[in-house]
Amino acid sequence: MQLPTLDKFPKRVLAAIDIETAFIVSRLIVAAERLQVFRTLQGKRMKAAAIGRTLKIHKSYRDPFLNSLVSLGLLHKAGDTYWNTRFAEKYFIDERSIYWTRQYSKECVEAYKALAFLEKTLALGRETHAVKGLKKARYVQEMARDRRQAEDFTQMLFHFHQEDAEALAKHLNLSQHRAVLDVGGGSGVMSIALARKNPRLRACVLDLATVCSIAARNIRRAGLTKRVDTLPGDIRRRLPTGYDVIMFCDIGSLSKELLRNAYKSLPPGGLVVAVDRYLSDDGTKPLDRLVAQFVSSSFGQATRSDMVGVVQSCGFRAVEASNVYRDLWVITGSKPDKVG
Ligand SMILES: C[S@@+](CC[C@H](N)C(=O)[O-])C[C@H]1O[C@@H](n2cnc3c(N)ncnc32)[C@H](O)[C@@H]1O
Repeated sequence: MQLPTLDKFPKRVLAAIDIETAFIVSRLIVAAERLQVFRTLQGKRMKAAAIGRTLKIHKSYRDPFLNSLVSLGLLHKAGDTYWNTRFAEKYFIDERSIYWTRQYSKECVEAYKALAFLEKTLALGRETHAVKGLKKARYVQEMARDRRQAEDFTQMLFHFHQEDAEALAKHLNLSQHRAVLDVGGGSGVMSIALARKNPRLRACVLDLATVCSIAARNIRRAGLTKRVDTLPGDIRRRLPTGYDVIMFCDIGSLSKELLRNAYKSLPPGGLVVAVDRYLSDDGTKPLDRLVAQFVSSSFGQATRSDMVGVVQSCGFRAVEASNVYRDLWVITGSKPDKVG
């Protein structure tokens, strides 16, 4: 899956953008996604008036908005007719699902709100919602309540994590293991990839009930219902036993409490696996993860060395961090065979 990072845009477009005002064009693209401009124009041409009516864009802003998208290389224009460029079709339709379009653009708007108070956040060292009384995005609670929200978020990640999942399955040697508990396993993308790679391995996705029903659909579609299961529950509670691998993948900052619970539930010799885009040891990479801290605190600020230290402090031995793919790292550790 490819993102429309700046290097993909034509040079003539980039040359017209000043980095300090780049947020304006960025916000226009987010609005285009929120309104589903590219999906509305998929494979067809429409007149400005029809686009305005369909997407409820007031006529005083309709043409400047559409023309800005033309200027950005996202739409073509002839007279008052507009249609998608190949660039827009590739990055805003082919490379992403409708779940991604809905969920990601919503998260971008929350991020914009938070950034309006960045200096205050920097000065006070508190999350933006605490500084300005903004509503804190509690995505887990929202997903527990709202099936559509759970589906958008979960299926966005199902699509987004495909390459990571395949790389993880290739990287991890689980040939000597029987069963993986995928804690906060979401869509099941990681469990599905591990089960495909290891024909005798079983896996179980532990997540919210609303998320588990979505994962179960993905597992059925993958033809893996005999070996991959779901378990609705709260990951902060005691974890079930019966698994010789406990995995935490992209579940934000991994607390000692979660790791201690994993230690208690694993048998001697069991493996803990933590997978995420942890910060480099000097704290300067990856850039997108680093700057995301200013708009959402859920990623935490743990570096790879911090995480190795935390895993060791919970009793695991032979703790190692290794690079899986691009910025994705895995930290593994074993529960000693003989404790004490
Ligand atoms: C960012 S997603 C990652 C999903 C999956 N591991 C992946 O890599 O695609 C984090 C997942 O953790 C789940 N989660 C977070 N807190 C939870 C809790 N207290 N109980 C159950 N699930 C939780 C969320 O519902 C979500 O599916």
